[in-house]
Amino acid sequence: MQFQIVDKKLKDIKADIELIFVVDKDLKHKFIGDKEAIKFNNYKGESVLILSEAKRAYVPLSKLDLDELRVAAAKAYNALKSLNIKSIKLASYVAECQKLSFEALAEGFLLGSYEFNKYKEKKERYTLKEIIFSTEEFSGKKIDLKAANEGFKEAEIIASATNFTKDIVNEIPEIYTPQKMAEDAQNLAKNIASIKCEVYDEKFLAKENMNAFLAVNRASVHKPRLIHLTYKPKKSKKRIIFVGKGLTYDSGGLSLKPADYMLTMKSDKSGAAAALGIIKGAAELNLPFEIHAILGATENMIGGNAYKPDDVLISRSGVSIEVRNTDAEGRLVLADCLSYAQDFKPDILIDMATLTGACVVGLGEYTTGIMGNSESLKNEFKTKIKDSGELATTLDFNPYLSELIKSQIADVSNCASSRYGGAITAGMFLAKFIKDEYKDKWLHLDIAGPAYREKAWGYNQAGASGAGVRMNLYFLQALSKEN
Ligand code: BES
Ligand code: ZN
Ligand code: ZN
Repeated sequence: MQFQIVDKKLKDIKADIELIFVVDKDLKHKFIGDKEAIKFNNYKGESVLILSEAKRAYVPLSKLDLDELRVAAAKAYNALKSLNIKSIKLASYVAECQKLSFEALAEGFLLGSYEFNKYKEKKERYTLKEIIFSTEEFSGKKIDLKAANEGFKEAEIIASATNFTKDIVNEIPEIYTPQKMAEDAQNLAKNIASIKCEVYDEKFLAKENMNAFLAVNRASVHKPRLIHLTYKPKKSKKRIIFVGKGLTYDSGGLSLKPADYMLTMKSDKSGAAAALGIIKGAAELNLPFEIHAILGATENMIGGNAYKPDDVLISRSGVSIEVRNTDAEGRLVLADCLSYAQDFKPDILIDMATLTGACVVGLGEYTTGIMGNSESLKNEFKTKIKDSGELATTLDFNPYLSELIKSQIADVSNCASSRYGGAITAGMFLAKFIKDEYKDKWLHLDIAGPAYREKAWGYNQAGASGAGVRMNLYFLQALSKEN
């Protein structure tokens, strides 16, 4: 799909169909010749109306807002994809900022057109190739062609990174093993010169005393992989490290998940998949930061050699962990990966994980939980990601919840003594593995809700959404504009 903007009136642009967004059900910008047809269809601007003879389509846009532009673009794509058309033309629609509006529209088309169909016999073929914007704008704003083209370019990078992450998350557990994740990471480094990749196996993990990570892997027939990618720009302002939970399957281990809860657990690799998407996007955007992606890839399975509730693990950092539930495995893998990550002296350290069902219960399926020790970093992050369209909110630590992860036998328990506050107690568990000097530089993002949903929403299809990718790329872009 290609985007372009031309300094011509809409009527002077050639395309197979014209698209008109109906903003807030207001039909005042309808094409005069369509008046009769709109009346005949009793059209009120609440759904999509395709006038095949006039070759015009009306698509609702609830308000001029960046994320609503994404939703409307995806809606338009879905309504038109079954038609045999190659090109669409439309006017310019500007929300807060011109560049971001064109970026959001292009993202809406690109994210909305994603499909994971490799296991379907019948693959639908869509012919849509070109989306042409006119500089015509309803309130008469002067459109900046340069800003629009910049928006298109960034949208292509950001949406492609997001769709890349979706492909990883959607892939089935039979195929997507830790080794497969390592191969994907190595291929990324092969394709992008500024990215390097190191893959470490179980021997390295043992040498590094990553015993918590190793314990989770023990009953799996697939060996674990610690994957470390680095993107280095010519000039770097900061070193930013992303750590991702890469559970290629989470059966729960001996604390086995009930059947209904195990389903969708191929998506437990979403944190690591997001980190891969972020480093790809950051490199393609040429961001002025040294970026690391550290992925802990393993399965959590059952078997005679499985790690057990009652075990005590000595983690890489030396903190001992009482295992009270083998299904709280993500925090064990992350504990060791976070410890490893701090050796590389990050200016900002962000982990991403589908860590707790409690986060989904608390925030719903659409919102990421932002946690950490630093009030100002959490708030800064929340503010800077606003335009990304990803939803996220802060969840604050408190000393009462910290009591719940105390252990009688070890330094910390991997499972809180109460169900309440499960997202935060998991975050506070991770905090035990952050050294004092990085305390205020660390953020934990629990993406358990939005990473994977079995029903489509907004511009997301059923399945993976690529949660974390856009959020962090927008964060990095906002950060790069400072000093
Ligand atoms: N991967 C799950 C969390 C999860 C649940 C992600 C639902 C996405 C959707 C995680 O490993 C897990 O099982 N957590 C337990 C922790 C508990 C045993 C303390 C949970 O949330 O129930
Ligand atoms: Zn689990
Ligand atoms: Zn898990």
